[in-house]
Amino acid sequence: MSQNAVLHLPGDQIIELPVLSGSENEKAVDISKLRSKTGYITMDPGYGNTGSCESSITFLDGEKGILRYRGIPIEQLASQASFVEVAYLIIYGKLPNQTELDAFTGKLNHHALLHEDMKHFFSSFSGQAHPMAILSAMVASLSGYYPEESATDGTGAFDANAARLISKIRTLAAFSYKKSVGQPFIYPKDDLSYCANFMRMMFAVPATDYEPDPVVVDALNLLLILHADHEQNCSTATVRTVASSHASLFASVAAGILALWGPLHGGANQKVIEMLEMIRADGGNIGKFIDMAKDKDSGFRIMGFGHRVYKNFDPRATVIKKACDNVLTKLGVQDPILDLAKQLEEIALSDDYFVERKLYPNVDFYSGIIYRAIGIPVNMFTVMFALGRLPGWIGQWKELMDDPTHRITRPRQIYQGQTEVDYVPIDKRA
Ligand code: ACO
Repeated sequence: MSQNAVLHLPGDQIIELPVLSGSENEKAVDISKLRSKTGYITMDPGYGNTGSCESSITFLDGEKGILRYRGIPIEQLASQASFVEVAYLIIYGKLPNQTELDAFTGKLNHHALLHEDMKHFFSSFSGQAHPMAILSAMVASLSGYYPEESATDGTGAFDANAARLISKIRTLAAFSYKKSVGQPFIYPKDDLSYCANFMRMMFAVPATDYEPDPVVVDALNLLLILHADHEQNCSTATVRTVASSHASLFASVAAGILALWGPLHGGANQKVIEMLEMIRADGGNIGKFIDMAKDKDSGFRIMGFGHRVYKNFDPRATVIKKACDNVLTKLGVQDPILDLAKQLEEIALSDDYFVERKLYPNVDFYSGIIYRAIGIPVNMFTVMFALGRLPGWIGQWKELMDDPTHRITRPRQIYQGQTEVDYVPIDKRA
């Protein structure tokens, strides 16, 4: 039965607003007619209480620590699926059968190469350029090579561009690394899995054979799956905002990559390792850094801690913490910062400041330690996050484009500036 909420406004204005229910019984008050009927808008800086869309891709419950892609729990996907299957699931709404998976994999292989002209772009970047700057620029550049598309146009252009992006982003990421270390580019190979192919493009050199280590390949597969979508986070909301102006898939995803780069979002995985190294170099006095994090004037936060939505635990962090121990043991890697991370977590979780604010380790707290163990350089960590998040951005772009009711994103504001004043000629100004 449909219900309404009743809002009483100053001046005896009363408005009934429809109440929406999600399939997991989440509730929302639909305010889409509020301004036209009353002149009021709502204020919600950071959009912590604002639903911007209805979506059938990802469900998460921050209180219960639940995350599901298309209904399937993240724990099941993490332990059983391949990243390519998960990408298909997120974009097309169902797990692929063998024929569909083969066709999708074939498309990824077909599109793995870069246009040869694009290779020259890499030599134009400064040697200091952050790989996220290179990646976003290169993804935006793909618009110059492939047709613009709309998900609903029925031409297959969307399917081709989605496959191009998933496949080429891996080639772009590996080539940008090769450029930074001055090694020749290694081209993709069709008979390798998505993750094995990436590791080979990153670490093979022409002089020797390269056999991807299955432990490393599995670890990468797991990390990419755990990052594949997370409903309306900062970068995904950015992709949707840009797409709402009918920008192309490449342009929208390039914007998402830039939003992800920030240290409060995907850039946190790099910052976690830098923070742990800093604590270690400082003598490992964790208490000192906990105190700094509690002191608002210090400007210091425990990176990899806290989440806008998860307020009990981040289910991805739970999976990653377990994987971290496994992977390091299997690879025979002893990383002192893993011990430091565990101590920091233990101390923070028993500290009133963190308990009261429900601050727990998020997905980024342990991911960097695995990336480091499998040889990924620290400044590439956020690029790895982008590779993982890409199916989510593509699926959300498609969902928006397929929705005939979507409108351009255009929030309102409450103006708090100077009221009307006259222009003063320069010779009359104080
Ligand atoms: N260390 C210390 N204090 C923190 C931290 C932290 N990591 N995170 C939040 N707090 C404190 C805030 O200072 C605030 O305290 P107050 O109520 O006394 O003012 C309170 O906890 C609430 O924090 P907000 O910033 O209001 O929470 P918000 O939901 O806006 O931010 C965020 C979430 C950005 C993730 C935040 O927790 C943070 O900065 N964490 C560190 C960066 C990080 O790990 N980002 C990755 C997030 S996961 C991802 O994007 C993939």
